[in-house]
This record gives sequence, C-alpha cells and structure tokens, in this order.
Amino acid sequence: MILMISVCRKVLITSGVSLADVLGGDINVYDFDDIGVPEGADNKWRQESSEKWLEKLVNDGEDACLLGQIVLGEIMACPSFAKLDGISFCLLDVSDFERIQRLKKRNTYGADQNMLNWAAWLRMHHQNPAWGQHVIKDGAWDGLDFSVWDKEAHWPESVTIIDTTDLSISEVAKQVAQWIYSDNMPDSERSTMSSEELGLPIFYQEFPEYFDTPSDIYLTNDKNEVIESLLQKYAIKSVLDMACGTGAQVLYLAEKGYTVIGADFSPQLVKIARDKAKQQNISAWFTDGDMRELSISGFDAVITIDNAIGHLVKSDFELAIRNIVNNLNDGGLYIFDILNLDAMTDDVIKADSERMTDKRITADGTTIINIRSSTIDRDDGYLISENNFTFQKDGKEKKVKNKSILQIYTMDELRNILSNNGFQVLEQYKADAYTFAADDSGYSIITVAKKG
Ligand SMILES: C[S@@+](CC[C@H](N)C(=O)[O-])C[C@H]1O[C@@H](n2cnc3c(N)ncnc32)[C@H](O)[C@@H]1O
Repeated sequence: MILMISVCRKVLITSGVSLADVLGGDINVYDFDDIGVPEGADNKWRQESSEKWLEKLVNDGEDACLLGQIVLGEIMACPSFAKLDGISFCLLDVSDFERIQRLKKRNTYGADQNMLNWAAWLRMHHQNPAWGQHVIKDGAWDGLDFSVWDKEAHWPESVTIIDTTDLSISEVAKQVAQWIYSDNMPDSERSTMSSEELGLPIFYQEFPEYFDTPSDIYLTNDKNEVIESLLQKYAIKSVLDMACGTGAQVLYLAEKGYTVIGADFSPQLVKIARDKAKQQNISAWFTDGDMRELSISGFDAVITIDNAIGHLVKSDFELAIRNIVNNLNDGGLYIFDILNLDAMTDDVIKADSERMTDKRITADGTTIINIRSSTIDRDDGYLISENNFTFQKDGKEKKVKNKSILQIYTMDELRNILSNNGFQVLEQYKADAYTFAADDSGYSIITVAKKG
C-alpha cells in the first residue's frame, strides 16, 4: 500500500515532529524533495520526479508514505502507476492566512498570491479532477499519459482532506497517522482469533453490536467524571485511550475539549466508536491497535479503563507498559483501573457475579439474559467468569457460553511492575468498581503513574 500526502510546498511536518516517529517504523516515510530540487524546478520536473518516486516505491515493494509535491492527476498519469497494488491520497489543507504565516515563519520563497492560487487549484483538483486541467497539462512532461484519466475510471471516490489550520505540527502528524491506520490497514493484519481463544467477553468480537446495550450495571458517566477530574488535576490536554471499546471515555473527553485518540484491539468496536463520533459530531479519532504495540506517541496521558489490562497476561501487561512509555510525552501519565486481587474475597466474587447476572433488551428487540458465575485462582490472580447467555428474539432462542479470564493484581504488584518499567506511581487508591469513587471497601484499584 502506498500512501500519498499532498502538502502544498511542504509547510507541514517538516520540523519538530517526524511522521516517521509517529508511525513507529511500520511504514517507510519519504519527502518528495529528498531527490533534490534543482534551481527553477517546474511542472515538468515535478511530473518526471513523480514517476521516479513511483519507480522507487514499486521496486522497494514495501508500505510507504510519500509527503510533498503530490498532484493526484499527475501520479495517476505516470507509467508506473499501474504497477502499484494500492494507493491512498490525503490532502493537508490550511487557510490562506495561516498558509502565509507559516511560509513567512519558514522564511522561504512562496509567501505570495501565486502560492494561494496554487493551493486553491490543488484543493479543487483533489475534489474534482475535471477542474482546470490545463494547469498541469499545459507544457507537461511527455512521459505522462493523461489519457488514462478518461480510459479508466480509477479516480478515487474521495480524497481525505485534513484541515491543519488550527492544529499544531504534532496534532497534524497524529491525524495523518490516524488516517493511515484507520483507513488503510488491510483486514488481514487484524486479529482473527475468536473471543473464546483469547478468553475475552463475546461482546468484543463476536457480538460487538450488543456491547452498548443499555444496562444498569455500567455507571460509565460516574467513571468518566473521576477520570476527568484526574486529568484536570494534572493539567492534561491530550489523551490516548488504548482500550477505547466503543468510545465511552473518548467521546466524553473529546466533548470536554481534550485532544483524544481512541484505539482498541477489536476493529468492530472501533468502527462503532467512530460511527458514534460522526453521528454526534464529535471530533475524536480512532484506530485499531494492540496496546502492546500501537505506536502514535506525543500524548500527555494514556488511559485503559474498565479492567482493560486484565485481558493481558502479566508478561504482556509489561510489554504494554513499556509501549505506553513510548507513547507518552516526558512526564506524561498512565491512568488505569483493575480489580484488586486482595479485595476479591469469596463473598465479593459471589456478589459481583450476581450483579453481572442481568437481562437487557437491545435496540433491535433482542432480549439478552446472562447468568454469570465466577471463580478465582488466587495463586496466579486469574478471575474466571463463566457466562451463560441466552439471546431471545421473535420466539426463538439461542444459547451461547463464554468463559472470560481476567488477570487481576494487588496494589503492591502494580507498583512494582510500573516502577520496573519506567513509571513512578503518583496516586493509587481503592475504589468502587462501578463508579470509581474512592472507597476503602471497594474492590477496584485506580492508579495514576508518571513516566520517568
Ligand atoms: C471492558 S472493555 C472497556 C472499553 C472502554 N474503555 C469502556 O470503558 O467502555 C475492555 C477493552 O479492552 C480491549 N482490549 C483487550 N485487549 C486489548 C489489547 N491487547 N489492546 C487494546 N485493547 C484491548 C477490548 O477490545 C475492550 O474493548
């Protein structure tokens, strides 16, 4: 897959933040001008150089992202275009006024009306290729074959446009990374293991449509208020939610004005989260990703809420923590909750199983009854829940059994793991598992740890 990012005269992502760093080495990142820009470089030079770039990318045969002087119609008219196995375009746009400010700051040529005209043409071209074709066709490099535009209907249906006017360079890089990960990852790279194989609840992969079925059990708003008060206390501005599910925390925090990206192991849940953000007109970004590996970086805080780390075995939790360190700014925070192994007495486990035994009605009229019974392996810290689901609809019934396993921890264990892997614990307290309210008889642990 080749990704092309058109940046009018590269005013962006050339300083401060490297997109390559944000992408964490998964995709080769190139700057169009790396081949050297001769004095008086013109349309012909750009068009011939586009073909040289395509030849290189085809020969490399690896995922790559090319940034810079990319004109969609020219790329498509290059001889090597047909040899690519896939291509996606994104246009980084900016308001006229801000464009001129950035060019002036960069102290380079082009802070003039010609540049604004070129930017306006580029914007039109990427949305409507029929617009003003003479701009690139007149005096074009004779290696281009513009007839392919008419022969093959291979113009992309739409080109992603990111308006960078109000974004910092690091925010632009994050949004570009988001575009790359969310729209361009082939399904084959996503996990195909079933919930049963992973010991996960069935609502993550098999029945994601029921993840959000209204239930009195989950007091999400209460939890979100607690998380936000912690973020406020430490003056956090940007948050990466590495186990976002259908976006319970991401949407709440984005509405409160935080810059938030949500990631989750389950692409199905991420899709629901993304659709909700769109419907509710909330600007938040989502991507599939495993908290052990996902690399976006540059955040003030990472969160994993609602026992999400319990889905990892201990050694994988350590991998995740080390990865979280890499995604945080210096001094950044990791905030998470997990059930407290020391607090899970037999009585607590029984009461919790009873509370999680419930009946819900979905929007499509399906009744879901779950009977849960849990046991604990205290030596290894595994809380094992046997769920017996009954799905009823239109007089028909389907039964599904699901065993999910949660790795839980003591407070000391968490502190040790964190301090051995690049964190210093700032706060840790016992809390009610359903509301996160501080409560000495609660059986959750809330931890706030600082990188460094
Ligand atoms: C209980 S849900 C919580 C979701 C959300 N934070 C909420 O409060 O609604 C736990 C989430 O962890 C995700 N998860 C499990 N293992 C993961 C991993 N290795 N990386 C990222 N997410 C993971 C699951 O897909 C699920 O969405």
